[in-house]
Amino acid sequence: MVKLNDNIIKMNNDNSFLKVKEKVNLYKLNNPNANIISLGVGDVSLPIVRPVIEAMHMAVDDLSSINTFKGYDTSFGYDFLKEKILSNDYPRMNFTNDEIYISCGTKTDITSILELFDINSKICLASVMYPVYQSGALSLNRNVTLLEVDEANHFIPNIPKEKYDIIYICSPNNPTGVCYSYAELEKWVKYAIDNQAVILYDNVYNAFVSSKNIPKSIYEIDGAKKVAIEFRSFSKAASFTGVRCSYYIIPNEISNNINRIWKKRLNNRFNGADYIAQVGAVATYSDNAKEAIKENIKYYKENIKLLYDFFSIHGYKVYGGTDAPFLWVKIKDEMTSWQLFDFLLKEFNIVVIPGIVFGMDGDKYFRVSGLASREVIIEAIKRMSESI
Ligand code: MLT
Repeated sequence: MVKLNDNIIKMNNDNSFLKVKEKVNLYKLNNPNANIISLGVGDVSLPIVRPVIEAMHMAVDDLSSINTFKGYDTSFGYDFLKEKILSNDYPRMNFTNDEIYISCGTKTDITSILELFDINSKICLASVMYPVYQSGALSLNRNVTLLEVDEANHFIPNIPKEKYDIIYICSPNNPTGVCYSYAELEKWVKYAIDNQAVILYDNVYNAFVSSKNIPKSIYEIDGAKKVAIEFRSFSKAASFTGVRCSYYIIPNEISNNINRIWKKRLNNRFNGADYIAQVGAVATYSDNAKEAIKENIKYYKENIKLLYDFFSIHGYKVYGGTDAPFLWVKIKDEMTSWQLFDFLLKEFNIVVIPGIVFGMDGDKYFRVSGLASREVIIEAIKRMSESI
């Protein structure tokens, strides 16, 4: 019999988004009349804005005539989208089209990028993290160390004394909603330069950043172009969770010709992102779309503020929310995060994500998302107000 990849077999789904889904489905089966509402998985509740939809309609029409039809392009994305991204999101940073890659979701790339690096590279990540970093690295048989985060360090790892080669940073953070300030990020960039390491900077929630002390991009930090690969996505801001379009930057300044080598890997493993999605992504930069997207972000931020105020008023310690769509809420009593999850599901028919999904150090917390609709947020607050 063919032998399977043991690293995948060993993956444990006991504390995962999948487990949350299974538990909710089982509850629905046993309680078919329950009106379950979700503050769980961070999917959006607002549709794609009109100018983007119209652009995608036109892109579909392009495919109907041989004069405008699009087949295979490069694996790296259309220049028309790269140019829009660079001029809008990275003005004055002097990146070239050669340094940006269009893709169909950060979740895939944030793991597959590890294939660039030697199998013995030492990887570090925060002990409370988007779980895909750890499971992805372990599935590729990589060497992972967790750097402890807790309230004392405000969920931002202390700079390690040991040398690591690859550093995962997520800011605005999923799940804690906490952001790295300029000063904190400067320390990590310096660490990476001193240790000839590479930072994988997951910046998919950057549209939620409004505080002045929080960088919108790691490349605002001096020297970051030598050490950082930044990932962003159209999912949350432009409601592309179903359409799928994302991008990342591999600066030419990173040593060892990483950018050129990645092109070799990509050419052999990927045929590029969807044309319709890329046309839609370009349209998110039109004045009308920008305005409409700004309103959507405002709506989600108002949602998160309602939740923040609710939990704070009821005596919970709450993190995040200011520059992120997530709140990280400390459980008040002796419950574990699964016990809290079960309690909220059974008592109020509300889904949250138990903190343990993001690592053992998350077990005293739960995550709530402000990306649900206003009706859901208000209904959740109403239900919980009765006895939380
Ligand atoms: C989450 O809920 O953590 C995210 O929406 C999941 C994802 O982006 O893959």
